[in-house]
Amino acid sequence: MESLVSMVYLFILLSLLQCLNFGPAAAVAHAGNGDGVQPLSKIAIHKAVYALHENASVKAHPLVLGVKGGDSDWVTVEVECPKPSEDDWVAVFSPANFNSSTCPPTEDMQQFPYICSAPIKYKYANDSNAEYNKTGKASINFQLINQRADFSFALFSGGLSDPKLVAVSNVISFVNPKAPLYPRLSQGKSWNEMTVTWTSGYNIIEAVPFVEWGQKGESQTRSPAGTLTFHRNSMCAPPARTVGWRDPGFFHTSFLKDLWPNSVYTYKLGHKLLNGSYAWSKSYSFKSSPYPGQDSLQRVVIFGDMGKAERDGSNEYSNYQPGSLNTTDQLIKDLKNIDIVFHIGDITYANGYISQWDQFTAQVEPIASTVPYMIASGNHERDTPNSGSFYDGNDSGGECGVLAETMFYVPAENRAKFWYSTDYGMFHFCIADTEHDWRQGSEQYKFIEKCLASADRQKQPWLIFAAHRVLGYSSSYWRDGTFAEPMGRESLQGLWQKYKVDIAFFGHEHNYERTCPVYQSQCMNMEKSHYSGVVNGTIHIVVGGGGSHLSGFGPFQTSWSLYNDSDFGFVKLTAFNHSSLLLEYKKSSDGKVYDSFTISRDYRDVLACVHDGCEPTTLGS
Ligand SMILES: *[C@@H]1O[C@H](CO)[C@@H](O)[C@H](O)[C@H]1NC(C)=O
Ligand SMILES: *[C@@H]1O[C@H](CO)[C@@H](O)[C@H](O)[C@H]1NC(C)=O
Ligand SMILES: *[C@@H]1O[C@H](CO)[C@@H](O)[C@H](O)[C@H]1NC(C)=O
Ligand SMILES: *[C@@H]1O[C@H](CO)[C@@H](O)[C@H](O)[C@H]1NC(C)=O
Ligand SMILES: *[C@@H]1O[C@H](CO)[C@@H](O)[C@H](O)[C@H]1NC(C)=O
Ligand SMILES: *[C@@H]1O[C@H](CO)[C@@H](O)[C@H](O)[C@H]1NC(C)=O
Ligand SMILES: *[C@@H]1O[C@H](CO)[C@@H](O)[C@H](O)[C@H]1NC(C)=O
Ligand SMILES: *[C@@H]1O[C@H](CO)[C@@H](O)[C@H](O)[C@H]1NC(C)=O
Ligand SMILES: *[C@@H]1O[C@H](CO)[C@@H](O)[C@H](O)[C@H]1NC(C)=O
Ligand SMILES: *[C@@H]1O[C@H](CO)[C@@H](O)[C@H](O)[C@H]1NC(C)=O
Ligand SMILES: [Fe+2]
Repeated sequence: MESLVSMVYLFILLSLLQCLNFGPAAAVAHAGNGDGVQPLSKIAIHKAVYALHENASVKAHPLVLGVKGGDSDWVTVEVECPKPSEDDWVAVFSPANFNSSTCPPTEDMQQFPYICSAPIKYKYANDSNAEYNKTGKASINFQLINQRADFSFALFSGGLSDPKLVAVSNVISFVNPKAPLYPRLSQGKSWNEMTVTWTSGYNIIEAVPFVEWGQKGESQTRSPAGTLTFHRNSMCAPPARTVGWRDPGFFHTSFLKDLWPNSVYTYKLGHKLLNGSYAWSKSYSFKSSPYPGQDSLQRVVIFGDMGKAERDGSNEYSNYQPGSLNTTDQLIKDLKNIDIVFHIGDITYANGYISQWDQFTAQVEPIASTVPYMIASGNHERDTPNSGSFYDGNDSGGECGVLAETMFYVPAENRAKFWYSTDYGMFHFCIADTEHDWRQGSEQYKFIEKCLASADRQKQPWLIFAAHRVLGYSSSYWRDGTFAEPMGRESLQGLWQKYKVDIAFFGHEHNYERTCPVYQSQCMNMEKSHYSGVVNGTIHIVVGGGGSHLSGFGPFQTSWSLYNDSDFGFVKLTAFNHSSLLLEYKKSSDGKVYDSFTISRDYRDVLACVHDGCEPTTLGS
């Protein structure tokens, strides 16, 4: 146990410092760093009124998208407005009909037009023509993805906070809005099973979903897929239940079983329609996972808090998750040297605007369709007051976990309790869920202990713990004086030490920080970059700089913090064999390595006793 007295003292000191007003809060606001407010939430869509003008027009073309088979396409929107103003904006609605006839009957529609659903994206009318406020003419480009419904475009004056509907465009649509799209791979419950989850507009009663797959170049077989969806009443609060709601479509998961280790498989998503015809996706491929303990090169990428952004510049995107496209693009560039990815919470930051989840799955498709994309649950997936989340914030915008738990598969016993273990060759991962209780005596604590204990360290030397909020150490948490979520380290450091966890990863703070091998806030080893033999502590890494607006650090240089960087980046772990592991921190802007260390050791090193780390021995026989 850590000294309560020193913690109280620190707390008082920190409270004093807070009055002087420096530290992370002050550090956060530098230019290009974003404000962390969901741009769609700035639109007061319920307040929209009519200001239709007979000489204003909005025209969109082409009328049909994806004619060459693509899942995304560019659209040109021509705007003409006789009374232009600086804050006119163009909204993209999908479905195209956004009038009050689409609202749930419970709504009180007093003022017209009464719009009850937020647009899926928007741009200011001056986006491509700074003269718009004089000429009233603009030609605006949007990149749209197939999201199962048609689209229309509407010109509003009055800015985002006082919207007045000036003109509405023609309707445009993808060739097949229901097409199977955006496959995401995940490890199944056993090492030789890969799961494929995708989104479509086909319910189980209109078409039978399946995956056609097999080893590359060999005969392909078909496996059935399950179908899930959810409705507005599964959302726990606004905006997910109100203006943010959008029909999510159908989620299909197929379990590809009995895979041969390290083999390349090809696959295609299909739906067999009632009249006997098929709707197909394009063709994808992946490499199956190694046998647990297998000695071969294994490369793992870990980061948190990435979010999404729009490549067409919509939604003031650079102010929300400014680094997310750089991170995505760096990973795509290096994809042939990556075997599995962990995105440890704060996935899309949709915050209750459901349309954003499709856009996120489209953004990561090149990655998630090729390597297992394993997620953890963060505050932005789960937290809603009175919904059983461990924290009472509104961070999920009323999604209360449903989107993350349905759109991504994880090998959890119960996906609403977002903790699981997974094996990848010489790695054993224990993924915890900081949005549910982890303290001693909780269901999750039992899972964590069981997961850590189940690594056979001769075969799986690299034991990794990961979770979203910082339960270990972060200099960004200085304000509450504990350098972590209260009750995090206190509850779990005994387990990390006892089971000799090599590295614990966390997100939530949007930066990178690495500690020494630490136990009870003490460095157990003075080495900084080449660990060997018995290490005696766990190295803690915050890697929450995936893309969302950056966090600063507190004013204290602690003894355990070895490297810090408030920039966008991710971690890559390379296991060369059972005795050699390399960790690299790369920036998303250039893909170069800015921090690294190695661990070399033999099996006996993790069997050795360290302080608090071994079962009591007995002399009895
Ligand atoms: C629209 O344009 C026509 C033709 O230029 C003009 O006669 C009419 O007054 C305009 N309407 C409004 C409301 O400005
Ligand atoms: C476009 O309009 C927005 C919102 O009114 C404003 O903030 C921005 O400065 C304008 N951009 C240009 C290039 O005029
Ligand atoms: C809403 O749109 C539908 C379809 O375009 C149309 O039939 C209906 O009259 C509209 N209702 C209102 C209240 O504008
Ligand atoms: C149009 O926008 C420019 C750039 O934001 C601004 O300087 C100018 O004053 C605006 N003109 C009018 C007529 O509003
Ligand atoms: C089967 O139904 C689909 C969707 O209704 C349609 O697009 C397709 O042309 C039909 N195919 C045949 C062979 O009738
Ligand atoms: C969450 O949102 C509700 C409704 O807007 C509000 O009453 C409550 O104070 C919010 N809770 C927190 C912790 O911000
Ligand atoms: C972060 O690193 C810089 C440079 O090494 C160091 O000066 C600073 O004290 C560190 N900050 C913290 C909070 O450890
Ligand atoms: C493990 O890999 C490292 C790095 O490539 C290499 O130096 C070392 O010789 C290998 N050890 C064994 C036992 O193969
Ligand atoms: C994204 O990468 C580019 C190219 O390296 C860089 O110029 C830009 O600053 C990066 N963006 C952010 C937000 O880091
Ligand atoms: C690790 O702990 C053991 C037992 O307490 C001690 O003998 C050893 O010197 C420690 N190793 C390091 C590198 O500090
Ligand atoms: Fe977070």
